[in-house]
Amino acid sequence: MSSFLSLIENKREGRKHSPEELRFLVEGFATGSLPDYQGAAWLMAAYLRGLDPDETLWLTEAMVRSGRVVDLSPISGVKVDKHSTGGVADTTTLAVGPMVAACGVPVAKMSGRGLGHTGGTLDKLESIPGFSVDMSPERFERQVAEIGLAIVAQSDDVAPADRAMYALRDVTGTVPSMPLIVGSVVSKKIAGGADAILLDVKCGAGAFMRTAEESAVLADELVRVGTALGRRFEAVITDMNVPLGSAIGNALEVREAVEVLAGKGGARLTELAVDLCARMLVLGGVADGLDAGRRMARASIDDGSALAKMAEWVAAQGGDPTITDDPGVLPLAKVRAVLAADRDGFVSSVAADAVGRVAVALGAGRARKGDPVDASAGVLLMARMGDPVRRGDPLAEVHGSDPRAVEEAVRALSAAMPVGYDAVTEPPLFVRG
Ligand code: URA
Ligand code: CA
Repeated sequence: MSSFLSLIENKREGRKHSPEELRFLVEGFATGSLPDYQGAAWLMAAYLRGLDPDETLWLTEAMVRSGRVVDLSPISGVKVDKHSTGGVADTTTLAVGPMVAACGVPVAKMSGRGLGHTGGTLDKLESIPGFSVDMSPERFERQVAEIGLAIVAQSDDVAPADRAMYALRDVTGTVPSMPLIVGSVVSKKIAGGADAILLDVKCGAGAFMRTAEESAVLADELVRVGTALGRRFEAVITDMNVPLGSAIGNALEVREAVEVLAGKGGARLTELAVDLCARMLVLGGVADGLDAGRRMARASIDDGSALAKMAEWVAAQGGDPTITDDPGVLPLAKVRAVLAADRDGFVSSVAADAVGRVAVALGAGRARKGDPVDASAGVLLMARMGDPVRRGDPLAEVHGSDPRAVEEAVRALSAAMPVGYDAVTEPPLFVRG
């Protein structure tokens, strides 16, 4: 008979857990029978000692079984989902969902809220007036069947162990652990019910994995474990040294997603949206290959069908669909200030993690679980890494509600996007395509 204490001691000594032991532990997290101090001790032991490939698989399987597994089989077609391991100015989900649905592949997605310096899809969606992310499983299923797209809050009974573990990891310095990330991501995606899952593993200063090597190991582990548990998983690795798009903040990112679908989005964000859409169309069985998928994705932007799908989807979830032709409907910050270049030169870098933290400090994200977010707060980048600028040119616009916080944000941002004399270029978007 295992006890929580003996499991902590075993992992502290680097010994291997059995499937039964991991199930016992995961149940403890899910039901609350495992006290936080013992849960935290085990997480740190697992962080430091690691879990081997068997343990990672057993942990993930136990996390799936800790709650309900959504059954999407009544909806016809291959249901696809996408997941990003967490980025800055990463509003791709809001653009890709309507694109994929417009191309005929049903998207049934459960999402989370932002934590740390990365944004959460639910917080972004809730900045749309009237939009609701809560719905019954029956309505979720019906909406996907009817319009091919629903994005909702993950309900409490889906992967409850992850919820408990993530909250503790977040406050104990144990988030950037490969096996723990694999358990967290894969268990949620499998419990969400999709047949095929595309993972966008972020790499760089603004991501949990800083190097291409670490990211590759994580991507391969995610695919290995997901596949072993019976779903189709595929992973790409993309850069998160620089922000993906130009908007960081909830309403600002909705506005940017609309721009992408209207064909007016930034090149980097649009390129990723098209690529991820193409891969989901291949996974969904409607495109013969990536090139065909990319053509379909681009066509959904060019012919207006993706933007029309967004309006239909927003309306279906109670939101104001006029955001797709009048972004003025979205909340706009009362206090705005511009960061200007203090000399002629080139933008040397735009530090994704620092920019993300500035946006959180302005109220766009939460410092603690349950904190409210300010829908209109954030940062709008007006220059990208490598851009030539003249003294006085605007580099970014800061949006907030408190003049002092906005002033502070402008200062912090000037350190995050320095202007230098050397011409530089942004790192390539795809670390591994
Ligand atoms: N995203 C998740 O959902 N879980 C993790 O552990 C890390 C990133
Ligand atoms: Ca995420």
